[in-house]
Amino acid sequence: MTMITFANTKGGAGKTTAVAIVCCELLRMGFSVTVLDADPQLWISKWFGKMGKTAPPKLSVVPYVTASNLASHVKAARANGDFVLLDLPGARTPLLAQALGYSQYVIIPIQGSAMDAEGGANVIELIHYLADKANIRIPHSVVLTRINPMVTTRSLQGVKDLLASRRVHVFATPIIERAAYRDVFAAGETLYSARAERITNLDKARENAQALGIEILRRVLPYTGKTTETSEGQLRNIA
Ligand SMILES: Nc1ncnc2c1ncn2[C@@H]1O[C@H](COP(=O)(O)OP(=O)(O)OP(=O)(O)O)[C@@H](O)[C@H]1O
Ligand SMILES: [Mg+2]
Repeated sequence: MTMITFANTKGGAGKTTAVAIVCCELLRMGFSVTVLDADPQLWISKWFGKMGKTAPPKLSVVPYVTASNLASHVKAARANGDFVLLDLPGARTPLLAQALGYSQYVIIPIQGSAMDAEGGANVIELIHYLADKANIRIPHSVVLTRINPMVTTRSLQGVKDLLASRRVHVFATPIIERAAYRDVFAAGETLYSARAERITNLDKARENAQALGIEILRRVLPYTGKTTETSEGQLRNIA
């Protein structure tokens, strides 16, 4: 079991959308996926609910994940499959430090705006703090979200420069701003169950998702099976 946590303390950064995209890609590759839904909007749980009987057999979604039940859900998910994706709320939460202790990898979705980089920086600071103070190293990367493929705005360039100066790894594939993502997920479909004739630019969304999925898998695979879980108590103390 490999757990990937999606975190950014700023709301609306694109965490949940990133979780849904990565979820679709891991399923496409044949992995089983459990999504732990800690987003109070329960968006992934609703998405899964809309799928009903057409839900991919290798997908499970656990709603209402909180700091008090995370440990038991991680334990159950561990027996259940290949990947666990945790969708965190867009606010500071004790769940973040706790979740880091279980995560093989942390993905920080950052929208290409300065405001958003701050929420991402909070997560990165906590990860660096754990490395410095407790020698707990949690591999992590930023994925830039809601990017207009046609223009590099000044604020996006600013975010990229800031991350480069802090030596934070950024996935080469950003998540493009596409209505297709919203339309597919709102309809209770996956990127592969949705019909291309009904969704504008579905092919482009799939292309973007596939490039990101492959990049993430390559990056995360070396960490599969490793866990920082023994440090969980330490993490809780620091949090
Ligand atoms: N790549 C994208 N293309 C189009 N719309 C997007 C994209 N990413 C996010 N959105 C839209 O932006 C809004 C916020 O995105 P999302 O819910 O994924 O963010 P979040 O970080 O999970 O928010 P919260 O912190 O509130 O949980 C949603 O309406 C979503 O549909
Ligand atoms: Mg969300």
